[in-house]
Amino acid sequence: MTDPLSQWRPEFPILDTCTYLVSHSLGAMPARTERHLATFAREWGTRGVRAWHEGWWEVGRVTGDLLAPTIGAAPGTISMHQNATVAQSIITSCFSFDGPRRRIVVQDLDFPSNHYLFHGFERYGAAVVTVASDDRVRGRIDRVVDAIDERTAFVNLSLVLFRSAHLQDVRPVIDRAHRVGARVVLDLYQAAGAVPVDVTALGIDFAVGGSVKWLCGGPGAGYLYVRPDLMRDLKPAVVGWAGHAQPFQFEPGPIAYADGLERFQSGTPNVPSLYSARGGYEVVAEIGVPAIREKSLRLTRRLMDAASARGWRLNTPDDDHERGASVVIDVPDGAAVTQTLIARNVIVDYRPGAGIRIAPHFYNTEDEIDHAVEILAELVGDK
Ligand SMILES: Cc1ncc(COP(=O)(O)O)c(C=O)c1O
Repeated sequence: MTDPLSQWRPEFPILDTCTYLVSHSLGAMPARTERHLATFAREWGTRGVRAWHEGWWEVGRVTGDLLAPTIGAAPGTISMHQNATVAQSIITSCFSFDGPRRRIVVQDLDFPSNHYLFHGFERYGAAVVTVASDDRVRGRIDRVVDAIDERTAFVNLSLVLFRSAHLQDVRPVIDRAHRVGARVVLDLYQAAGAVPVDVTALGIDFAVGGSVKWLCGGPGAGYLYVRPDLMRDLKPAVVGWAGHAQPFQFEPGPIAYADGLERFQSGTPNVPSLYSARGGYEVVAEIGVPAIREKSLRLTRRLMDAASARGWRLNTPDDDHERGASVVIDVPDGAAVTQTLIARNVIVDYRPGAGIRIAPHFYNTEDEIDHAVEILAELVGDK
């Protein structure tokens, strides 16, 4: 069977050197990223301070617009930040937690950074309500829905859970939250670039994520989507001069917020990281997430079939409609086995309480999946 996406392999130099199956952690770098970073260096080197007014100051908005089609966002709705946690803290700081609506609903399977941040807001009156899962594989969306009421400020929800790749049905949560006047922050980190997402069709209030994984954008490019009709009424407490309506007037005193997404900007934009993120955004947009998803399901199914045939335990939902883009295989001594796989040039990772996480992306091949399975079988002794 011919695979049209295999033509992208030369764009990712690391694929020549190893079996790279770790895109849930760090997506491979596109060759063009080196050129984008060289452009940044050239602009700094030759234009100096003038570069701010020749594109650098607007780089956040331009980069957000480049990402927008991949997650179904309208232009002008995505601001860029250092990482997902910073984006999350900016949106959390828009809530005051001083009235009856002070609850933040989370799941025990969220990425822990979310929990750390929300518990931090307890000193300002927030109350964190944690919804338990049964098995650390599947989130209990029904329990999340039940936990939402008029006391809920917002719900934090991962579209794809980082530990198990469970792709959650977020619609009932959004519907329930909106019925009682609560908001929803969707954590897209393990979904964007691998799983189709349409924030506009979902009617989601906010979304956060970063570019390190499936977007192949590298570190330093977290993003915050805000539904356009909500933007003007939000007043983040975590803010800085770049969020001012007229930043170059340097006015003292309380901020006069910018009208658009710049109100969520804190200080100086992270220019080199945003240049770095461009390459991955361009490639993902050019291929399109539906084609990426189709291939991802084919490769993860192949991997899961091979694992099941050998009796390995899978900590990932089996149904294609409930699975993100990685597969978690739980074998004895998983941490040590992972180290040996890496030493044998099969790059994967391990999460305690979950297992070995293996993540093919659009640039991987069926042969690479078979190779990883072969080595793993050798290591766990059931070839
Ligand atoms: C689902 C999810 N949310 C949030 C984060 C944290 O992102 P950041 O390091 O950009 O704050 C991660 C990181 O792996 C993640 O997988």
